[in-house]
Parts: sequence; C-alpha cells; structure tokens
Amino acid sequence: MQSLYVHIPHCLQKCHYCDFATVLNTEAPDFKDYFECLKKELRSHSQSKAPLRSLYFGGGTPSLVPLNILEDFINYTHNLGYLIDSKTEITLEINPGTLDHSELISYLKMGINRFSLGVQSFNNDYLEKIGRLHTSQSSIESLKIMGELNVNISVDLLYSLPNQSLEDIHKDLQEFKKFPISHISPYYLTLPKSHFLNEDRKEETDEMEDLIHDELTKGSFNRYEVSNYALAGFESQHNQVYWDHLNYLGIGVGAHSFNPEYAQFGIRFWNSKNIKKYMTVNHDSLGEFKDRPKASYEILKVHEALTDLCHTGLRQIQGFVIEDRFQKFNLETQNELKVRLNQLKKEAYIQHQNNHWSLSPKGLKWANKVFEALYFGPHYLNTTT
Ligand SMILES: C[S@@+](CC[C@H](N)C(=O)[O-])C[C@H]1O[C@@H](n2cnc3c(N)ncnc32)[C@H](O)[C@@H]1O
Ligand code: SF4
Repeated sequence: MQSLYVHIPHCLQKCHYCDFATVLNTEAPDFKDYFECLKKELRSHSQSKAPLRSLYFGGGTPSLVPLNILEDFINYTHNLGYLIDSKTEITLEINPGTLDHSELISYLKMGINRFSLGVQSFNNDYLEKIGRLHTSQSSIESLKIMGELNVNISVDLLYSLPNQSLEDIHKDLQEFKKFPISHISPYYLTLPKSHFLNEDRKEETDEMEDLIHDELTKGSFNRYEVSNYALAGFESQHNQVYWDHLNYLGIGVGAHSFNPEYAQFGIRFWNSKNIKKYMTVNHDSLGEFKDRPKASYEILKVHEALTDLCHTGLRQIQGFVIEDRFQKFNLETQNELKVRLNQLKKEAYIQHQNNHWSLSPKGLKWANKVFEALYFGPHYLNTTT
C-alpha cells in the first residue's frame, strides 16, 4: 500500500457549507474508543510491510486528538507493518485556534512533517457568515507559531463566498504572503443549489480564478493541479497517490479506499458516513470484501476506470502520457481516447506537447466541459477491455 488516510470526524462546530463526515465534539465518541475502532480496522487489512509514501490525518478536526492518543496510533501503525520512515509524508489538518507552540513541538517529535491549516478567509464577517468558529486573528496566530518552528505549511483558501469581491480575495492572498507557506489549495465554495449561502454570491468566478492564479504564480508558486499550488518540491505526496490511481487505504467514518490490483481495473470501498454505524460495525471484518454490504464497494468496470484516469490525469497540470497511464487498456480503447483528445485539441481545450496531453489555458477555464467530453459510458463494457 502506498498511502493511509485516517478520518477524524470530531469538530467544535458544524460549518454551514460542509458536507464531510463530521460530528460535534460534544456528541462524538470518546477519542480513546474511536481510535480503538481505527486500530481494529487497520488490523483487518493485509499489511504490505513496505514504507508508506504518505499518512494523512484529515477531518473533521484532527488537531483535537489528544497528543498521547495520536502518538500511540502512529507507533501502532508502524509496528503493525505500515512502515513509516524519514521519507513518509505525514500530514495533520489543523483548524485555526486549535494549536499552540508546545503542541506543535510534540507533533514534530512524533514525526508529523506537514501541517494543513484551514484558514479559508482572513475576513471575520465572511468567516462568521459561513459558520466558522475562528477569527482571522486565530489563523494569524497559528501561522506565526508554525513559521517560528519553520514547519512545512499548507493552507486552504475558500473563494466565491457570499458578497466576496475580487478586492477581498486579493487581501487574503496578500496576507498569505506574510508567512512561509509552501502549499496553497484554493477551493471554489461548492454548495447544493438551494443552499442559503448561494444568495449574494458574485458571478465573477473566472476573474477570481485568474486573480488567484496570477497572484500565486507571480511569486514562486507553481500550479501543479487544478486546485493546488506549491513551491517546487512541496507538492502533496498524498494527493498524488489519489490522482495517479495508486493504492490507498482510508480508515474511519466515511473514509474511502482504492486498490488498483483488485480484479482488472481495481476496487473502491468505503465506510459508512454515520458515526453510530461506524462505531458498531465489526471492524475486524472490514478488510474482507465478502463481509461488506454491497453498497460499500465497487469493482471498477473498464469505462469507469477510463473516465477516472482521464479526469484525474487532466486535473494535473503536466497531464499524462497515454502509453504510461493507460497501459491496462487495449489498443482499441487507447485509439478511441486519442480520437476524443484530438477533437478537444482541435477546439483548443487540450494541448499535446512532448507526448503529454494536458489542459490548455482555455481547457482550464472550461474543465467541466472537457471532463464531459471524456466521460466514457457503460456501452464500453462489452465491446472492449
Ligand atoms: C473538510 S475540511 C477539514 C479541515 C478542517 N476541519 C477545516 O475546516 O479547516 C478540508 C477542506 O475542505 C474544504 N471544503 C469543505 N467544504 C467545502 C465546500 N463545500 N466547498 C469547497 N471546499 C470545501 C475547506 O477548504 C477545508 O479546509
Ligand atoms: S471545521 Fe472543517 S470539517 Fe469541521 S465542519 Fe467545518 S469545514 Fe467541516
């Protein structure tokens, strides 16, 4: 296995826009009980005894986990055979206001070497409107603590918030420049159609994206994925595993996993998003697909694997080489793919340079249209492998 994701659902509040598997801390299971379940689940899967490329604690709010429980879990993971060495990228998601200097020193001692801070915005009015518990001051304090200890900092920025102007986004980007940040993920606020936060959102998405792109690349940041910018050498190893369809295991409530070696095109499997169900399931049996409910795994069919590989390949700015990425597919399928890519190239959505197919500047703006054109339906099933 390449990577391990551990989901910590505990949150101090429920932000208005968030659809992740989260539970209010006051109603959530005790961390000790939750981590016992995580350990059982981890044990139920076969261990590769190879060093992990990445270990990612995501949430929810992993920075709420008591230090001794987190350290014990990291040691347990290693001793079980999910080996952690000096090259393993270990990320912890942190909410502003939940970090102090001595905690950060403890995290470093236990081997955590990447910290992802959910800043979202430095504007207190917007933070309040979207239901965040922290203020911009808490973000600044967390960034200062991290900067003092010279750690590897990643930040999340949310844009297209209600009433948010280009000027506001510009201010957020200027504030980031004051800190030694190595990775930035700007996320367009995604909401269901009827969500109350949709009111008062400005229709300037293109301009916002251009502004973010120009400001970040004017400095030393490279855009290496549609929503991710990094200084050279600071690209997220963990996300790379997802985008390259490599093997990852996700444990905890609502966590997803993928094993590309299973059957011809791999298997995806996931846990219940319901905390009560997750806590009461037989964790020892989660590693066995035959014991899982049918609705919790999916053996990929050729058209699904093809569609996924196209989409995640093109989300990466460097794109892909067909012969490398689509080795598992027969020539007929590869040719069909080339026909569609060539058509998109004619329309200037795609470029083909040094044998790499990638989104052109126009394609980056119209990525959804490109992904639609590279959707392969089930008719592919019986005609090709
Ligand atoms: C699920 S959160 C977990 C991290 C941490 N709890 C936090 O909120 O900062 C991870 C990131 O997902 C992004 N996110 C969550 N809901 C989103 C939405 N509806 N649209 C866009 N991004 C979202 C936020 O930027 C957030 O930092
Ligand atoms: S703190 Fe993060 S995970 Fe928790 S509800 Fe807010 S956005 Fe979701």
